[in-house]
Amino acid sequence: MSIFSEKQILLGVTGSIAAYKAADLASKLTQAGARVDVLLTSSAEKFVAPLTFQSVTGRRAYTDQDLWGHEAHVLHVGLSKNADLLLIAPCTADTLAKLAHGLADNLLTVTALAATCPILIAPAMDGGMFEAPATQANLTTLKQRGVTFIGPAEGHLASGLSGTGRLVEPSEIFGHTRIMLGKLGGLANKKVVVTAGGTQEALDPVRIITNHSSGKQGYALAQAALDAGATVTLITTPTGLIPPVGAEIVKVKSAKELLNAVLNESADVLIMAAAAADFRPKTVAQDKMKKRDGLPQIELEATEDILKAVSGPGSAKKRFAVTVGFAAESQNLLANADEKLKSKGLDLIAANDISAKDAGFAVETNRITLLFADGTKENLPLMSKTSAAEKIIERIVTLVEKNAYPSHV
Ligand code: CTP
Repeated sequence: MSIFSEKQILLGVTGSIAAYKAADLASKLTQAGARVDVLLTSSAEKFVAPLTFQSVTGRRAYTDQDLWGHEAHVLHVGLSKNADLLLIAPCTADTLAKLAHGLADNLLTVTALAATCPILIAPAMDGGMFEAPATQANLTTLKQRGVTFIGPAEGHLASGLSGTGRLVEPSEIFGHTRIMLGKLGGLANKKVVVTAGGTQEALDPVRIITNHSSGKQGYALAQAALDAGATVTLITTPTGLIPPVGAEIVKVKSAKELLNAVLNESADVLIMAAAAADFRPKTVAQDKMKKRDGLPQIELEATEDILKAVSGPGSAKKRFAVTVGFAAESQNLLANADEKLKSKGLDLIAANDISAKDAGFAVETNRITLLFADGTKENLPLMSKTSAAEKIIERIVTLVEKNAYPSHV
């Protein structure tokens, strides 16, 4: 189940030229499964019509007229009572000032004053207005009261000048909304390290040996861990995928770099979704190998098994309370996965049959069997990598709760 399902988000839109971008944001949140109630101030209505929001959310958009309508005395209380998050994007300097001082002269500010849910604000205004001591003091006041801010960003402003005042892009606001909703999730206050992608082993300055891993399953796991409230470090090879908002990104290429990056971390959970090379060229040619020199003889050497190094029997220092691996197998799926579970000292291994057309490296779906250190197994049906990631994270939450340490500890 997505983090947005059954979530009620109040989206306040105020009178900034960036108000049109809020329609995109409302659409993204709705498509992700949230119920989005939009509240427009009267100046926002000058930039964008309530109908725009109604069309993308499929729900009524509220304006100041509703404050004085027949529902007047309860509407703001009702809206704020049921909300999981109040998001104000874009938020003008004027609305910021009203919120800081507890003014309640329109539907949005009266609702904000009544709200008990977390508040996320994405300001947008001219650079000079943002820098103004009054605005800065208002920001400080609201931060001290626990309001979270995203942006403003630097760049071109409507005034023609450039500076700090631009509304952060809707995709980034969307990502921060996920983080806010996830704060009370099962991995709140936990740190999760996820590795993703196929490693690249250099042969010479232009050639590499790599594999078909797309990184999609690892990125989906990083997102699902963020949604569950975790602090996430994503150690990734070059995949071309957009990293989830809020994850700390560590870039690596080779299995050696991946090993060093993992050894640099310690966390509650390590999820090794990366397809790390098992072999690498013993020597890397300094210059490009030339055809005229004939067919090269490439001698390979073994790379270090990263999971064995951090959690296998005899591993020196325990850096991760829970370790999770993947087994990509084209034959004897369960027997091979079980052997890896034990030899790598894992709490959980996700066995993936890569011989199936609808599972494995380049496709959008996976058919996974979960094998746990206590001997239990769980077959997951064919599902998207996103759903598989959510399921795996659900199981990891239970493992973290039980504090199920690997058997060798
Ligand atoms: N793995 C690792 N270090 C390596 C290779 C793999 O930590 N050098 C991890 C992978 O990230 C994965 C798990 O070990 O979580 C299993 O990887 P897989 O490629 O299926 O197995 P291998 O141990 O490499 O064994 P084989 O290739 O012989 O099946």
